[in-house]
Amino acid sequence: MKKETQISYEYFKNSVELNDIEKELFKRAKEARENAYAPYSNFLVGCSVLLENGEIYSGNNQENAAFPSGLCAERTTLFWVAANFPDVKIKKIFVVGGHREFSEKNPPIPPCGACRQSLIEFETKQNENIDLYFSSMNDEVMKVHSIKDLLPFYFDATFL
Ligand code: THU
Repeated sequence: MKKETQISYEYFKNSVELNDIEKELFKRAKEARENAYAPYSNFLVGCSVLLENGEIYSGNNQENAAFPSGLCAERTTLFWVAANFPDVKIKKIFVVGGHREFSEKNPPIPPCGACRQSLIEFETKQNENIDLYFSSMNDEVMKVHSIKDLLPFYFDATFL
């Protein structure tokens, strides 16, 4: 029996189409990207997080000479937020990535599979969706209303 699943997403041709808080999150993610520690890949990623109390925190990818010991921008940021504000819900996450010498052709950079799995845990824990935006350095933005739209057939605690 063949079955299908659907995901929905929004596409913004450029950031002028974003509202004020989204523009602010984009700006904060871009600023954080500038501080990424990515001497091995030269691929810089910034991430900003909007909490339910209106505060915004940001982070970036952190690499290591022992390659697997580094961490993506999304998890660096989220784990810090969760460590410091374990009971505050996350409303929105904005990710901006691109090579250090990015070209105008850079597409929006979606979170890697491991980050999607980590992000799902936060949605499950807080029992509320998180809007996720990911973009390129040339201003195109994609938005999903839930991490689940990026990870159909996700694994979570209900299977344990
Ligand atoms: N990276 C992120 O920070 N987030 C992603 O979702 C994709 C990849 C980082 C990891 C590594 O430092 C560099 O980008 C190249 O993979």
